[in-house]
Amino acid sequence: MNLRIPGPTPLPDEVLQASGKQMVDHRGPEFKAMFDRITSGLKEMFQTKNDVLILSSSGTGSMEAAIANTLSPGDRVLAVSIGEFGERFAAIATAFGANVTKLNFAMGTHATPEGVREALVKDPSYKAVLITHNETSTGITNDLGPIAAVVKGEFNKLFLVDGISSVGSIECKTDEWKLDVVLSGSQKGWMAAPGLAFVAMSPTAWEANKTSKMPKYYFDLAKAKISADAKETPWTPAMSVFYALDKGVEILKREGYQNVYKRHADLSARTRNGLKALGLKMVATEDKYASNTVTAVYLPEGIEDGALRKHIQSKYQVVLAGGRGALTGKVFRIGHLGYVTAKDIDECIEAVRGSLIDLGVKLPVNIK
Ligand SMILES: Cc1ncc(COP(=O)(O)O)c(C=O)c1O
Repeated sequence: MNLRIPGPTPLPDEVLQASGKQMVDHRGPEFKAMFDRITSGLKEMFQTKNDVLILSSSGTGSMEAAIANTLSPGDRVLAVSIGEFGERFAAIATAFGANVTKLNFAMGTHATPEGVREALVKDPSYKAVLITHNETSTGITNDLGPIAAVVKGEFNKLFLVDGISSVGSIECKTDEWKLDVVLSGSQKGWMAAPGLAFVAMSPTAWEANKTSKMPKYYFDLAKAKISADAKETPWTPAMSVFYALDKGVEILKREGYQNVYKRHADLSARTRNGLKALGLKMVATEDKYASNTVTAVYLPEGIEDGALRKHIQSKYQVVLAGGRGALTGKVFRIGHLGYVTAKDIDECIEAVRGSLIDLGVKLPVNIK
């Protein structure tokens, strides 16, 4: 099966083998050595000297942790949203009692530094700004550097970044851009199973943590830091996912981080070019901001999302993702992150071509 969803991703054999290893004491020397290796690999990929904490949860747990550990009820929060995951970040902050204002950008577009600046000028009372680095529902990557220059450089706000589907596949310069909290999750580019989430915390984020009054217990990052300093986790960790991640990080290091970013950029362009040749329209209005980890593409007229995905899976053994939120039923999505090659993409595009023909879509004349 060619699993082309934006996580969980297929895993290399060496990761599958590592995942099946026998348990060890999660407070013993073998675990501590593994914890150390993984943490230093994560820091390299996050491009940070800050603490990077590892939580046993899916990515959403790290979003909750980011909010609950830096903010207090009533804090003013500007939630920048370009899709469903931006909406989720805003919803979590609201659920924890923050006073959230949303800054939405049009479907298919990215957040602009000018738009963020305008919102921060209009209301200077914001304590924090939330943003999604790579919006998995629309297949768009925000250009974080210039936005961070506004949020941090001009206004010095706390800046919380959902990098769940970017870090590990798309470059995120945590320290250079002065990002305060950056998140990711094991099932994305990391070549590991779902179950672990990562939180990079800047010194400024730790300062905010000292006065944060939102409720927290399982996701109390101060507790996680005390444990991390002893190379362990406060609670029993998802051990088998640690094993997988240990191997996944080793593989990424072996490939070289810059090569990993380039491979994702190349495969993303290959995906879009293949789809465009079939006459399909991307959700991303500009290629420059199209995501290197996931492509969202509009369904051709008259084709039902469910019918296409069922057909392509049963006839071609390719699994696509559907649309989310406002794009439900309107798009399908192709994941190209983690353990993925040009051959996987070519087979996927070929299966899309075959399925569209099978379902009666008239393709451009030059396509057979
Ligand atoms: C950008 C982004 N944010 C948050 C999440 C939520 O992560 P999880 O499903 O692991 O809780 C995802 C997962 O798809 C994501 O892509």
